[in-house]
Amino acid sequence: GSTLQAAATEKGRYFGTAIAVNKLSDSTYTTIANREFNMITAENEMKIDALEPNQNQFNWTNGDRVVSWARSNGKEVRGHTLAWHSQQPGWMQNMSGTALRNAMLNHVTQVATHYRGQIHSWDVVNEAFQDGSSGARRDSNLQRTGNDWIEAAFRAARAADPSAKLCYNDYNTDDWTHAKTQAVYNLVRDFKARGVPIDCVGLQSHFNAQSPVPSNYQTTLSSFAALGVDVQITELDIEGSGSAQADNYRRVVEACLAVSRCTGISVWGVRDTDSWRASGTPLLFDGNGNKKAAYTSTLNALNGG
Ligand code: G3I
Repeated sequence: GSTLQAAATEKGRYFGTAIAVNKLSDSTYTTIANREFNMITAENEMKIDALEPNQNQFNWTNGDRVVSWARSNGKEVRGHTLAWHSQQPGWMQNMSGTALRNAMLNHVTQVATHYRGQIHSWDVVNEAFQDGSSGARRDSNLQRTGNDWIEAAFRAARAADPSAKLCYNDYNTDDWTHAKTQAVYNLVRDFKARGVPIDCVGLQSHFNAQSPVPSNYQTTLSSFAALGVDVQITELDIEGSGSAQADNYRRVVEACLAVSRCTGISVWGVRDTDSWRASGTPLLFDGNGNKKAAYTSTLNALNGG
């Protein structure tokens, strides 16, 4: 294939990107996005604060814009994200207990219902575990409603949209030896054993010098897959430049292609200047929209094997 999406499709995978609604009027941006990617994640527009700014008053405008841009261009959509400790609207931040649990479940139900039939995969729950060596759940208002809040969210999502794949998504879960990786693994194993609906694990895979592509990355992918879930690389970006960055992108693609249940890769933005890493250069296109060495190595790796 001569584009990322074409090459990935030949390998039975997708290749996606995050899209920001306020850039859909930038033709350099949309030209690259349309040409290269066939899976779209809204970078911010489908988060809780964006979709439910006031309790039970939903604002679908920007989320719908991203979804309709994607679908009208023949692309699929990853939904991001139904339940998260972060990016909660003020009213939700101030809630607790049963009221919060019910508000969270109502959000999951309303949003998954609104987008029913249009979502390839939902990040049902995002970033619910702590960093560091504890392997514990992250403290949050949602966690304080009871340890079963995650499975409650997954059951509500399944009921609202039975056709979407339901994913648990997190960062720093790339290194197989990391306590957080093991904690997510145990969650998925428990869900599969008890019949809690879960179809996929999203590895965000934000890499930099402090958190490089681990040597055991493929082991992480294959270990999750062996639990009977798909694995998706959901928010890939890799700090650096030149051949070192290109080599790291190649390693990520090769690891995914080596695991049959690694079904797709999404990068977290189009050009370096679109990245959430304000001063970084972690993506595949430079600020002028030119292909970087990392683009070429990614495409070659997708075409390889
Ligand atoms: O749109 C407002 C703008 O009106 C305002 O002037 C400006 C002032 O700060 O803020 C703008 O909103 C910002 C928004 O991005 C759009 O640029 C928010 O402050 C800022 O918090 C928000 O950051 C996003 C971040 O998630 C929030 O949690 C990043 O764009 C987005 O890339 C990042 O994505 C996350 C994933 O959802 C989850 N995994 C990690 C990943 C990277 O942090």
